[in-house]
Order: sequence, then C-alpha cells, then structure tokens
Amino acid sequence: MRILVFGAAHRKGSFNRKLALNAAEHLAKAFPEDTVEFVHFSDFPMPVYDGDLEEKDGLPKGAGALVEKLAQAGAVVISTPEYNGGIPGALKNAIDWISRADDNPLDKKPLLLLAASPGALGGVRSLWHTRVPFEALGAVVYPTMFGLPKASEAFDANDKLVDPKMGARLEKLVLEFRGFAAKLA
Ligand SMILES: Cc1cc2nc3c(=O)[nH]c(=O)nc-3n(C[C@H](O)[C@H](O)[C@H](O)COP(=O)(O)O)c2cc1C
Repeated sequence: MRILVFGAAHRKGSFNRKLALNAAEHLAKAFPEDTVEFVHFSDFPMPVYDGDLEEKDGLPKGAGALVEKLAQAGAVVISTPEYNGGIPGALKNAIDWISRADDNPLDKKPLLLLAASPGALGGVRSLWHTRVPFEALGAVVYPTMFGLPKASEAFDANDKLVDPKMGARLEKLVLEFRGFAAKLA
C-alpha cells in the first residue's frame, strides 16, 4: 500500500509536521513492504481559491501536485493544527482546490486525522471541523482521531515523541488505521 503522510502547516518547526513524521515512521517500520511517502505541505503552494483564477488558469500547480499525490495513495494520514477552534484556512483552501480537480482523489480514500497543539486540548476541536469537508468529498475518515497536547514539550531533539505512552498510543492507532485501510482497498 502507498500511504501519503503530511502535517498541514507551513512553518519549518511545525509540531504537526513532527507528529506526522512520527506516524510515518511507525507505519514504515511495521509495514516495510508499503511505500510511506512523507511530504511537506509547503511544497504545494497555492493561492486562495478564486473562481476567476480557476477559469483562467485551471488548478494551480501546487494544488495539481497535491491532487496527484493523493490520487496515487491508497491511504492518507494528515496532522493538522487547530486555528481558532477549527480547521486552518490553508488546509481548507487546499481541500477547496482539490475538490475542483477533474477526478476527486479523496473519494473512498481512507484518511486518519491527527492534531498537535501547545495547548491542553491537543487541537481536537479542529479535528471535528476537519472531518467535515473531507467527508463531504467522500473520504472515509477513521473514527478514532488523535490530539497531542503540550506539543511544544512533546518532542526530543530528534523530533521523536518524548512520552513513551503517547508514542505507543500513536503507534497503535496508525497500525489499526493501516489495517482498516487495507480492508477498504
Ligand atoms: C491563527 C492562530 C490560531 C490559533 N488557534 C488555536 C486554537 O484555537 N487552539 C489551539 O490549541 N491552538 C491555537 N493556535 C496555536 C497553534 O496550535 C500553534 O501555533 C501550533 O504550533 C500550530 O501548529 P504547528 O506547530 O504545526 O505550526 C493558534 C495559532 C494561530 C497562528
């Protein structure tokens, strides 16, 4: 199986990027026969959705590249920040562009949602919002989601989760998700 993994934040030190990387490493270790593709959200730049721009130029290059990556993947893992209690604008904007592709790469696609936040709630409020547009596009969002609280203290110098219990919880979840995705394939 090919699994696409990314953190839905642009900044270099993103906690969500680190959490997504931990998830990718668990998958790659447990399923060496899989292709676990860890990508950076910032490698898919795109303007704010604008119908006139779309009419003139079609999908922006970054959105088209993300559509291609999603289409190639049998399953997707995304770790998203929480902005003001909900989905960050950049991720929602990417979803909006993706929805304009000729072929919807999210239809029936197994998707695991994670979140990381320096706050006490671990970004879980954003997860409930983030499910909605993905499910509207037909993604099969895994029922269990994962919020990492106190993310600014959660990683060591090698970007690994410091708390072994948290690491074990993440590992269990991503492996369960991999099993779920395999059944849908
Ligand atoms: C515009 C904005 C809104 C935010 N709103 C929330 C919020 O509602 N809940 C929360 O836990 N953190 C919030 N934060 C803090 C983010 O969780 C924090 O910046 C986090 O590091 C972002 O994820 P990243 O590390 O992957 O970039 C907000 C940050 C920004 C910039």
